[in-house]
Amino acid sequence: MLVLLISILSCKDQQKEVRISENFNEGWYFRLGDDAKASGLDFDDSGWRMLNLPHDWSIEGSFSEKNPATAGGGALPGGIGWYRKTFFLPGKDSLKNVFIEFDGIYRCSEVYINGHLLGMRPNGYISFRYELTPYLHYGDSKNIVAVRVDNSQQPNSRWYSGSGIYRKVRLIKTGRVFVDHWGTFITTPEIDTASATVVVVSSIKNSGYPEARVEVTTSVRNAAGETISSGHSEVTLAGNSVHEIRQELRVPSPVLWSVDNPYLYKAVTTIKSKNNIIDKTETPFGIRSFYFDSREGFFLNGKRVKINGVCNHHDLGCLGAAVNERAIERQLEILKGMGCNGIRTSHNPPAPELLDLCDRMGFIVMNDIFDMWEKKKSPYDYALYWKEWHERDLQDLIRRDRNHPSVFIWSIGNEILEQWDTSGYRVTPALVKIVKDLDTTRPVTAACNPPSPWNHVATSGVLDLQGYNYAHKEYEKFHETFPGQKFIATETVSGLMTRGYYDMPSDSIRRWPTAWDKPFTTGNPDHTVSSYDNVSAPWGSTHEETWKVMKKHNYLSGQYIWTGFDYLGEPTPYGWPSRSSYFGIIDLAGFPKDIYYLYKSEWTDEPVLHIFPHWNWEENQLIDVLAYTNFEEVELFLNGSSLGTKKKGPEDLHLTWRLNFKPGTLRAVGRSGGQPNLEKVIHTASQPARLTARPDRSSIKADGMDLSFVTVEVTDKDGNLVPYADNLVKFSIEGEAFIAGVDNGDPVSHESFKADNRKAFYGKCLVVVQSKKSRGKVVLTASAEGLEPAVVTVTLE
Ligand code: GAL
Repeated sequence: MLVLLISILSCKDQQKEVRISENFNEGWYFRLGDDAKASGLDFDDSGWRMLNLPHDWSIEGSFSEKNPATAGGGALPGGIGWYRKTFFLPGKDSLKNVFIEFDGIYRCSEVYINGHLLGMRPNGYISFRYELTPYLHYGDSKNIVAVRVDNSQQPNSRWYSGSGIYRKVRLIKTGRVFVDHWGTFITTPEIDTASATVVVVSSIKNSGYPEARVEVTTSVRNAAGETISSGHSEVTLAGNSVHEIRQELRVPSPVLWSVDNPYLYKAVTTIKSKNNIIDKTETPFGIRSFYFDSREGFFLNGKRVKINGVCNHHDLGCLGAAVNERAIERQLEILKGMGCNGIRTSHNPPAPELLDLCDRMGFIVMNDIFDMWEKKKSPYDYALYWKEWHERDLQDLIRRDRNHPSVFIWSIGNEILEQWDTSGYRVTPALVKIVKDLDTTRPVTAACNPPSPWNHVATSGVLDLQGYNYAHKEYEKFHETFPGQKFIATETVSGLMTRGYYDMPSDSIRRWPTAWDKPFTTGNPDHTVSSYDNVSAPWGSTHEETWKVMKKHNYLSGQYIWTGFDYLGEPTPYGWPSRSSYFGIIDLAGFPKDIYYLYKSEWTDEPVLHIFPHWNWEENQLIDVLAYTNFEEVELFLNGSSLGTKKKGPEDLHLTWRLNFKPGTLRAVGRSGGQPNLEKVIHTASQPARLTARPDRSSIKADGMDLSFVTVEVTDKDGNLVPYADNLVKFSIEGEAFIAGVDNGDPVSHESFKADNRKAFYGKCLVVVQSKKSRGKVVLTASAEGLEPAVVTVTLE
């Protein structure tokens, strides 16, 4: 047979131009509102607003009870918006294939190139790409990408979604023979200390030649960039075909990926024709083995690990849904700080940046895909599109995410209504099959509420893990109900609290609403919830209740707590005017609530002694002082007098002292045999006197995206946080940076997130500084009437 040997690029071009991935996020024009003509090449968009992606127009809007998203969706506006971007391509690009990749658009996007409709995607979280090649102009003729985004049908979500092109966009240019989209699949079927087998399956596409003969080489590089193994294949590709090539490589003495040492390798795939490199891709991966055992729990690389995870929604507080890698990294850093080792991407495909970071930082991800199937939960949710789109969306997600070492579990649904009738028996196996056709290396679960003999999803017989949402009282009977099966708590707790707010006494447990347990009655008129871990949703528990069971049994492989961070929308137990959640261990601004230190004391080996509440109360008021600690005993002193030493019993997760308030100094001393003591002191604060400002990083990249999160506190003249301070703080910036958002963690505030001022909430607020693209110094001043201002300098490098 005659083989046409192709030679596409000259040797000169081959090194630099084999595959180009262009950042396509800058210089878009945007307008809120619909216009059927806006898809056209010659449409006049000169009056539109210019912006850079990622962009979320909802977060720029005003809170209103009338917004159709409702308080459950964050009470911010939706609507229809258009984006347009003009670009030019050099003539030599006419030899290439050109694609546009979107990481996610919320939602119902239609994408046009030069007036031609490329397609529509209803799912607001899915990543996709279109080929532009047949419709492009080269040289001086312009090209226009136009995107219509329709988030007007509301409510369509049980939480804040955001609106717009809120994730990144890339332009990809390849040769005519190339590694197809998500065309690399890496597995590590055999691992021991001497070596690991790495199987790389590459889908190679020939889009332009009647026949092409190419060489495909895959090399594995270690974290130092050294090539440690290579595989080589030759293949003849028919015209317009995709060919799968399987290569098996050996990695000697593999360094295993774990939550403590998330070591990454990289597979570099090179396609050559006649010795010219015509495509090259890089795929990070990890080498790790794991399994769930019905009796012994979760094992990673042969060692038992308890999954101490949290669920999070995708919003980034005051930045809205607009993806920013540093903002996600900060969330993960804060979570790592309390010993968290797992993330559930509730309840939708995550931003690729989140998984990249989980790979690099060591988190066990449960990749959660759908919140509904055929049966809707909100009037206009994805159930409308289920029939036509679920298979494609599920396949796309698995293909995109199956190389991430951090992804351990696929979850095909959250609290799906098909649990409750026989449709669960039909849909569950169909979805599991879609997943298993593409990846058999990870277990599939569904978040059931809860698994029971009457649950048609749980008893479908096709799930690898029984996923419990709540019902912690049933965990100890798990094997009576599901003998021989494997357990994961897909969602737990739903504790409620407002950072910095306390109701006395601390020990009456309240669940909302009244019916399910001791009454929460009407709540507080200002929509606060006490921070003593004694208020929870009726379907949930306090944090301590669930953790006490979870830590007791090895077969309880772990949990994903609802939630790590507060999020926009779902303001249970209240409704409007509240507009964001109370569930977080950390508030919306990223300030830890007291409960953070319970987990830190249990999940890390760092010495922890956290005492609360603050020390500004009414004279003689009866106050409960609690300590979260991993010291064996703690002695508490008020104004120098001991209030007694409390020892932690084997079941205790906190220590309590009940005392009459006297202003002054509360001092706690933690002691354990053979360990230095640790002291914590809280003083009664006097009047607000000054502001302090603390950036999380005082040097950031001058790349137009990097962020410094600056915490501002109102203190008295001696530097004590004033616990009730709500002063209005104003921010000004000098230098090449701007304010990306402001917040204070108050779920009831209707102040704009996109402003240069914010009231303090229980003494604190946050300003997020974003770099522009010039190096230099940025000076941020925080000022408030009658207070000494605070000034911080951030260097842009
Ligand atoms: C769960 C649900 C979550 C969230 C949570 C609030 O039942 O899966 O999405 O709504 O309740 O407690």
